[in-house]
Amino acid sequence: MALRLQGPLLLVFLAALRVGESRYFEVRDAGAEEPFLLLKAELKRELSEGQFYRRALRCIDMLSIEGQFSFTAQQPQLHCATFFIADPTELLTIDFDFVNIDCQAGDFLKVFDGWILKGEKFPSSLDHPLPTSERYIDFCEGNSIRSTIRSSQNVAMIFFGIHDPGNGFTVTIKKMPNLFPCNVISQTPAGRFTMVIPHQRRNCSFSIIYPVVIKISDLMLGHLNGLRLKKPTVGCGGVGDFLELLGGNGLDPSKMFPLADLCHSLHGPAQMKIGCDNTVLRMVSSGKHINRVTFEYHQLEQHELENRKENSLEEFCLSNI
Ligand SMILES: *[C@@H]1O[C@H](CO)[C@@H](O)[C@H](O)[C@H]1NC(C)=O
Repeated sequence: MALRLQGPLLLVFLAALRVGESRYFEVRDAGAEEPFLLLKAELKRELSEGQFYRRALRCIDMLSIEGQFSFTAQQPQLHCATFFIADPTELLTIDFDFVNIDCQAGDFLKVFDGWILKGEKFPSSLDHPLPTSERYIDFCEGNSIRSTIRSSQNVAMIFFGIHDPGNGFTVTIKKMPNLFPCNVISQTPAGRFTMVIPHQRRNCSFSIIYPVVIKISDLMLGHLNGLRLKKPTVGCGGVGDFLELLGGNGLDPSKMFPLADLCHSLHGPAQMKIGCDNTVLRMVSSGKHINRVTFEYHQLEQHELENRKENSLEEFCLSNI
């Protein structure tokens, strides 16, 4: 229902909120009973949904919550980036509410569908549904940035460079549910996740950017069973659906080291300690089957490194810690 309050009345109301009961009755006595109650309900609804978050952006920033964010250059700031991350089961939407930059002077503002760090992309260009060039949306090339931009996974970022102090932009970030998350960067160093690929010909990576202990508790693939360590060029023979475990120190799964392939369904835990900066579980799916993997992970602790001789777990990248 639309609310139509006259300006001054609204001000009185806002004053009443601050001063309290006596003013409350004043407003009510002024014959505004109905709109007042409506407004109160509206306000209550807004508060119960959590207040909309607003803050200024730093040149290099990381955001994991919804809200409205503004950047204003203090001096020429030419190499800035904001990384957005949501829960694994969410996508992000990005709306530019206001942009005041000078493209002619060399300013730029781009959205990237994923993350890039030191030239490495997540998702890798092999696993992303779009060709790399379409993952960039450039404000200075056309006006596509004026409509809502939706990420393909739980991470996205913007890059910008602004010469003139005072110039900048305002962006609104929201989250929306993703029923079948494919590529994911974990927001936390510990968690549990089930990835399902329902008859889709696509490859999905779940990335944990911490050294971790990872336990695969259940794996359902189109066919049979066992954990096999990867020997050079053997793996699962490159056929059928499989799950691969990758380790490395960059962001791009296609550049990471293959640690193990699981070619067959598995019930009961398979655990590994992976001391790499980034650990990825990558599911390769032909689309002929429903594939599902459930796993949990937590950050590799110092004591888990110390008693590594006492157990039979596989360990990789440990020299990096
Ligand atoms: C998935 O990955 C496999 C092996 O890495 C590759 O052969 C296949 O073409 C990929 N599928 C898609 C849809 O990208």
